[in-house]
Amino acid sequence: MMDLDAMTEEERVSVVVPTYNERENIEELVERIFTVFEQEGIRGEVVVVDDDSPDGTGTLAEELGKTFAVRTIIRKEERGLSSAVLKGFEVASGNILGVIDADLSHPPESIPDLVRPILNREADLVFGSRYMDGGRIENWPFTRRLISKGAEMLSKPLADTTDPMSGFFFLRRNVIADVDLNPKGFKIGLEIIVKGNYTNLMEVPITFIDRKAGTSKLKGFEYVNYLMHNLSLLLHKKGMGIQFLMFSTVGALGVLVNMAVLLMSVEVLDLWYMIGALLAFLVAATHNYILNRYWTFGGGASRPRLRVGQYGGFLAISVVGLGINLSVLYALVEWAGLWYVMAQLFAILVALSNNFLWSKFLIFRED
Ligand code: GDD
Ligand code: MN
Repeated sequence: MMDLDAMTEEERVSVVVPTYNERENIEELVERIFTVFEQEGIRGEVVVVDDDSPDGTGTLAEELGKTFAVRTIIRKEERGLSSAVLKGFEVASGNILGVIDADLSHPPESIPDLVRPILNREADLVFGSRYMDGGRIENWPFTRRLISKGAEMLSKPLADTTDPMSGFFFLRRNVIADVDLNPKGFKIGLEIIVKGNYTNLMEVPITFIDRKAGTSKLKGFEYVNYLMHNLSLLLHKKGMGIQFLMFSTVGALGVLVNMAVLLMSVEVLDLWYMIGALLAFLVAATHNYILNRYWTFGGGASRPRLRVGQYGGFLAISVVGLGINLSVLYALVEWAGLWYVMAQLFAILVALSNNFLWSKFLIFRED
């Protein structure tokens, strides 16, 4: 049960529901939200932010407003998930804000689990997590799981949470007061984790059930957009931007070294080009390792001399990076329909970011 004592007069919860063509889901969602509000004694409202859905979700939400505390905003010009959520926060009357998907993939019955820690002052930002112990995903196809896992891994170093991609979270309004949040893309939660002013972030397990009605709006392009967004968030983190540039420079030099060794192996040493490529990889990776250790991640002098484990780790990351490059390239071309040159550009960015983050936080981390 909700701790009613902890809930002072002004504690009001606003649940923002971004919608685009959710006519088949919105009514059930609203009913279920107000049922839990009632059961748990939560004082709250729902703010539907609809982008003028052709299926009439907006008008239906306005209808529901006659029965329930539902406020509806219909945006005629603007589009996009993050900006819809921000709009909802702006017009919400509660001092506790939250977001839930309209498609019933986030169980409204979990809302109290997310709100309770905020009311009890145990946390000021609470995320529903599919990936922590007790969390689950139902009905997701393999590719969707794969993409989600990949996205999750990429954001790991940005956010120390198990499910930073979650679209189901609650916060105290002051967490985002005066914070400049990027309205592009669909990762508003991750933005808040990176930029928000909070002292305690908490995660609670949820069961994510894929939508039964309607279709997902996040298509291939959104994922590309996501990668770019992630990268810029990364640069936002203090000091990381410069380091990332240094790391990229080392990588670019490494490509030159690789080519030089390959040429030499074949033209001068008369080796088979595949053997040459292997040699080239080893020499280039070693070159990258040394530069990264002493330049990018500095402090080389105070470290013990060459650590075999560190070197081996870096080689392993380089091999994994190559694997990621190839997989992302394949996925973007085959599933997202991107031109292969464009796809390779993004794939390199992903692999590079991956290598960088592992290098920074594992291989060369400050002990
Ligand atoms: N107003 C508005 N404008 N709402 C939108 C828009 C938009 O451009 N795009 C999507 N929505 C709404 C949908 O109607 C739904 O209520 C919610 O945002 C999520 O959209 P889905 O299309 O169901 O997204 P998803 O299931 O692929 O993604 C969900 O899971 C991801 C994690 O796997 C979302 O919760 C993401 O935020 C989350 O990262
Ligand atoms: Mn969905």
